[in-house]
Amino acid sequence: MRTQVAIIGAGPAGLLLGQLLHREGIGNVVLELRSQAHVLSRIRAGVLEQGTVDLLGKAGVGQRLQAEGLPHRGIELCFDGSRHRVDIHGLSGGKQVVVYGQTEVTHDLMNAREAAGLTTLYAVPDVSLHGFDTHQPTVRYTRDGKEQEIVCDFIAGCDGYHGVSRASVPPGTLQTYERVYPFGWLGILSDTPPVSDELIYVNHPRGFALCSMRSKTRSRYYVQCSLDDKLDGWSDTRFWDELRRRLDAEAAERLVTGPSIEKSMAPLRSFVAEPLRFGRLVLAGDAAHIVPPTGAKGLNLAASDVHFLWQALGGHYRGSATELEHYSERCLARVWKAERFSWWMTSLLHKFPENGAFGQRLQQAELNYLVQSKAAMTSLAENYVGLGLEA
Ligand code: APR
Ligand code: PHB
Repeated sequence: MRTQVAIIGAGPAGLLLGQLLHREGIGNVVLELRSQAHVLSRIRAGVLEQGTVDLLGKAGVGQRLQAEGLPHRGIELCFDGSRHRVDIHGLSGGKQVVVYGQTEVTHDLMNAREAAGLTTLYAVPDVSLHGFDTHQPTVRYTRDGKEQEIVCDFIAGCDGYHGVSRASVPPGTLQTYERVYPFGWLGILSDTPPVSDELIYVNHPRGFALCSMRSKTRSRYYVQCSLDDKLDGWSDTRFWDELRRRLDAEAAERLVTGPSIEKSMAPLRSFVAEPLRFGRLVLAGDAAHIVPPTGAKGLNLAASDVHFLWQALGGHYRGSATELEHYSERCLARVWKAERFSWWMTSLLHKFPENGAFGQRLQQAELNYLVQSKAAMTSLAENYVGLGLEA
């Protein structure tokens, strides 16, 4: 098989890139390790910056998002038993974010890909990458017991943190930066009305909590948990009790509980690999960087990488090499700012036992300063809605 761009991974990065390239007349094939049903069953974050919403519109998949996405103009910070609203819209010069699940984004992109008749190979277990230091890279995999090969111009590695693309880069050419946090998030999805119209981020002596949502009737809640915790040790009752204890009295009273329809645990990590291009292999999204979910930046960073990659590959086929040459540095400038923000939100809101009472007092002082200082809240708002693409 021959195509212009072989895309590894059918997460939001790979599917969005495929759609944007297709609309520009650039042929592409997507290869995905897991089944389509498995990809669609993964519950991930759900806060889209305006830039991400705009890019999904350009990819032709903005319709359901416009109809069903929930615009949010503020968030609440809860600490010391009370809630404080951050006027994201007012402090960011009129911007907002849209709450729309990553699963829905993936669904819309899969539908558009299918409608356009583009090739997507699911459940391909043994993808390998070759010759990306030449002008004609190849991707190999097995299908029906036979080795198959795709000859292409570029390989886009959009296969997440555990993917094969970053792992295929020759040793010594990649620099990585990492911080692993000493706790995880336990999340549940439930068909209950959200406790508040806006997201609540909670700093509590028992640990962080987050009240989010997917719609007016579906809630998404998280509590900070230990890395040693097991999912089956967290019954629904234990989860709801723990969440209630971390909320202020009014929200705790208002919380509507019900059976969970999904429950999962995730560790928190900050990670960046540099650079993002190796000859004709380019990395995008979680394949290149991970942020802890506290700032809701993971999907938005994947989208901004894809924006730059779409420009870079479009430029290449129009005869301009500049965009591709600058792809890595453009992405990384934005990535590191989102890494900083996500690390800061994580540090401010979670319980870090190793920081002791001194660390806890500093957190309280910073939270008090934050909600009293317009300058500090403006900085939070500006980062939360997303820095511009040229940041
Ligand atoms: N071959 C093919 N596909 C692979 C391989 C492989 N060896 N390894 C992993 N994949 C697939 C995964 O199964 C997954 O479907 O690549 C896809 C990567 O998708 P994501 O992990 O969703 O990463 P990305 O598309 O970069 O999305 C960005 O935003 O909210 C955050 O972390 C969250 O998923 C999210 C991300
Ligand atoms: C979510 O809804 O899953 C969510 C929202 C905000 C975050 C992280 C996750 O910061």
